[in-house]
Amino acid sequence: TYIVTDNCIKCKYMDCIEVCPVDCFYEGENMLVIHPDECIDCGVCEPECPADAIKPDTEPGLDKWLQINTEYASKWPNITSKKEPPEDAKAFDGVDGKFEKYFS
Ligand code: SF4
Ligand code: F3S
Repeated sequence: TYIVTDNCIKCKYMDCIEVCPVDCFYEGENMLVIHPDECIDCGVCEPECPADAIKPDTEPGLDKWLQINTEYASKWPNITSKKEPPEDAKAFDGVDGKFEKYFS
């Protein structure tokens, strides 16, 4: 499966939604997650993310994010069409500590 990681927080560009063939993105206030059981591993969303936030869960060190995607995909609503990204998305690209401060 692919999962959404830290740098999506407060960037939330949502280009990923438009390319996913199975609509498996779920929306929190400041980020999206992927439902790991619905993702068909096609990989098309990974290069579409301007924040480079989408990764295959086979990359080392992503256990925490696999758990977060799994948990919140069942709590947050499904999102199938792109909305306007936050106006200050660029300012948050690459900022450290976003999970601690802004995860929602
Ligand atoms: Fe959707 Fe494919 Fe990305 Fe999985 S890898 S979230 S199926 S676009
Ligand atoms: Fe987030 Fe990238 Fe999608 S910033 S909303 S994973 S395009």
